[in-house]
Amino acid sequence: MRFAELWDELLPIGRDEQTGGYRRYSWTEADTACRAWFLRTAALFGLRAECDRNGNLWAWWEEGTGRAVVTGSHLDSVPDGGAFDGPLGIVTAFAAVDQLRARGFRPVRPLAVAAFTEEEGARFGVACLGSRLMTGAIEPAAARELRDGTGVSLAAAMSAAGLDPDALGPDEKRVAGIDAYVELHIEQGSALGALGAAVGVGSVIWPHGRWLFDFTGRADHAGTTRLSDRHDPMLPYAAAVLAARQAAAGHGALATFGKVVAEPGAANAICSTVRAWLDARAPDAAALDRLLGQVTAEATDAAVQHGVGLEIRRESFTAEVSFDLRLRDRMASLLGRPDAGTGRPATSAPALPTGAGHDAGVLAARVPSGMLFVRNPSGVSHSPAEHAERADCEAGVSALTAVLADLAGQ
Ligand code: GLV
Ligand code: MN
Ligand code: MN
Repeated sequence: MRFAELWDELLPIGRDEQTGGYRRYSWTEADTACRAWFLRTAALFGLRAECDRNGNLWAWWEEGTGRAVVTGSHLDSVPDGGAFDGPLGIVTAFAAVDQLRARGFRPVRPLAVAAFTEEEGARFGVACLGSRLMTGAIEPAAARELRDGTGVSLAAAMSAAGLDPDALGPDEKRVAGIDAYVELHIEQGSALGALGAAVGVGSVIWPHGRWLFDFTGRADHAGTTRLSDRHDPMLPYAAAVLAARQAAAGHGALATFGKVVAEPGAANAICSTVRAWLDARAPDAAALDRLLGQVTAEATDAAVQHGVGLEIRRESFTAEVSFDLRLRDRMASLLGRPDAGTGRPATSAPALPTGAGHDAGVLAARVPSGMLFVRNPSGVSHSPAEHAERADCEAGVSALTAVLADLAGQ
């Protein structure tokens, strides 16, 4: 089955008609429909499908012996996310399996397509939750207690979906059975366009994390409370936003308050609380620490000045990841192979660092992992405007096919 057919089948699931963005939050109806698509597709290709103890989906091409070559990504989205972030890695994986089959390829080791759950952390706050649970990077008890915005726990959401939350936890046998993991992903920047390449190879992921800033003030009347009597949490929050921007600029880093909940949320009242989430990423751990220190200090000063309480809690963190050098080199040389006729490179796959988090970054701590990126002309991601041309997606399928043939063929 061609990439286009698979892609078009998945495309309408979980798309909001008003915004055109995707709302595929884990363990919701949209997610269930995406998971059903995965299982149907696996069946179509004669792959054995299973859901592991952490809710990750697997489709196995069980030929050959020994440790497996795994490829895949995630199906969940950020609020109003684009179509490509995650699904591109899964659809290209199935399409690559199809191409390998069509050319009569016989893997000497098992090959699997995986869909990791709650990669974005959009519902339960911890990014790459499925791969973290699988690799033992998060305590299962803590994961079970994670809550969504309405107070539903991960345990309850998984139970409602028919899974056993008591089974959550490290899956050592599965991890030990992986020889290599390769995740294809839409580029979340526009470097490949500038380099004139359709496909790139991931080099490093910046250290990054999320911090919850919880400001507690005092609700009061907007029209009668004198300025000097206010305990307005919105003010230190505003100071934190500006401090984050300034600190990021000062450290060659990125910092974003992208989610804020102001309560009770009346236009004519001072808020009692403001909860806001800082996403911060930097080229190295020292720069990230300095950035955090600066934002924390300025937010704390502003909170004291306005008589507001402030608690800061880290919700998730990923240290700097360097993808497996041998795998990187192997993929780059494979994709940059000279054309037999002209002797010139038929393709080239530049190495790209990224500030975005990925399951491949979590798996990299345990198994040789790598990434392929597909050109994104505007560089926009986590938005309905995210886009990759069909021809570049097809180039991604070809690149992934070549990589899988190489990794599973010897
Ligand atoms: C995932 O897309 C992330 O980088 O937050
Ligand atoms: Mn994403
Ligand atoms: Mn992603």
